[in-house]
Amino acid sequence: MLVFLEDLGRVQERAQQLKLAALGRLTASIAHEIRNPLSAIGHAGELLREERRGAMQERLLKIVADNVARLDRIVADVLELGRRDRMQAETLLLEHFCTHFVESFEGVQSIAPGIITLETEGEPVLCFDRTHLHQIVWNLLANAVRHASGGPGSVRLRASAGAGVAELHVIDDGGGVPDEVRAQIFEPFFTTHHLGTGLGLFIARELCTANGATLDLASDPGHGHFIIVGRSDTCLLPEAKGAPVGN
Ligand SMILES: Nc1ncnc2c1ncn2[C@@H]1O[C@H](COP(=O)(O)OP(=O)(O)O)[C@@H](O)[C@H]1O
Ligand SMILES: [Mg+2]
Repeated sequence: MLVFLEDLGRVQERAQQLKLAALGRLTASIAHEIRNPLSAIGHAGELLREERRGAMQERLLKIVADNVARLDRIVADVLELGRRDRMQAETLLLEHFCTHFVESFEGVQSIAPGIITLETEGEPVLCFDRTHLHQIVWNLLANAVRHASGGPGSVRLRASAGAGVAELHVIDDGGGVPDEVRAQIFEPFFTTHHLGTGLGLFIARELCTANGATLDLASDPGHGHFIIVGRSDTCLLPEAKGAPVGN
């Protein structure tokens, strides 16, 4: 009887996974389909704007342009989520990964060197899909930079090695997440920023889960502080325990 119930539980879990995967594919294709009409609307708005018909029209066209940009950010984020199913875990040396990451992040976001600092303890390695980790750290650092004071060392990336795990902390010297919204920040579309999509943390956590890792907000009052904990000993897929990934 007990065996039967356990099997049923697994069957239900599998069915749920399949449903979620189908839903994920549908979401990604809807997002993809929205792209072209959205860019046509944006483009038509630009052309109308060039006619310069007066202040009222100018104002209305700005509303169109702002909302096209907003939808475009949401679509881009949802498409990121679609990458969750295509994962290729590899052993990443965090010091190397983070050094290169910070350089490219600073370049793209025009951030002066020295604002973001990197600390490593031991030789942390993480078993993770490289593109996924890139996306996750990007989302966390973008939030950290937005909330930090902007001074030297105001955003810290700290990697450390533990027993069979590695931790990656993203810490900023901003005010941290207020208690009243702590429970909501990982929800899709929750944002307190006027240009935010509220998908950054949701996507980051989903991608962590796909890689058998966790993403949490640290209980560090008065600071933005997020922690990724992932496996470093063996590159195993979460559902394929015992079977090494790849070769
Ligand atoms: N480092 C941080 N410090 C303070 N609040 C944060 C930080 N990171 C995230 N948050 C809060 O979590 C919300 C959701 O973040 P996110 O999912 O990345 O969406 P978005 O950046 O589009 O607002 C933010 O709007 C903000 O209220
Ligand atoms: Mg964000």
